[in-house]
Amino acid sequence: MPKIKVLFVCLGNICRSPAAEAVMNTLVRNEQLAQNIECDSAATSAHHEGEPADPRTIDHAKKRGHDVTSISRPFNFKKDFEEFDYIITMDDSNFKNIVNMDSKNLYRDKIFKMTDFASNKKFNHVPDPYCGGPEGFETVMDILEDSCSGLLQKIKNSLV
Ligand code: 4NP
Repeated sequence: MPKIKVLFVCLGNICRSPAAEAVMNTLVRNEQLAQNIECDSAATSAHHEGEPADPRTIDHAKKRGHDVTSISRPFNFKKDFEEFDYIITMDDSNFKNIVNMDSKNLYRDKIFKMTDFASNKKFNHVPDPYCGGPEGFETVMDILEDSCSGLLQKIKNSLV
């Protein structure tokens, strides 16, 4: 079976995309698909490069059983477009930034928004929780658990 590679992308790669990576890893492990699906995350900015995830992200994810381990790195348009099968952005700004990096429009079919896979249509993006309180991080986790579940189903359908 081919290995599917998924890259989650947000602005800083310290809040939303590390949490998305952790949630997806939980779901993948629970379904014994770790041999088939590999996850990573990246930032559209280099502002937090080399930093672990925000401690609030780590705590809110941990409470739900997800282990956040990523170190922030910028999206690499020379390698990541080629290497990954799914590039999943968190909001319209991330989405536009990534689409614009694909200057020859070679990879447009790989670029998605996280909420494209949500069953709950209340949100059409994952709101940036960085400057807000704990409820923002809980909302992020709710959206990610729902959306990653939909994403996993889509990938599983493509594997059969
Ligand atoms: P993220 O959140 O994009 O979900 O990692 C943010 C992290 C840092 C900043 C903004 C958003 N910042 O402005 O430093």
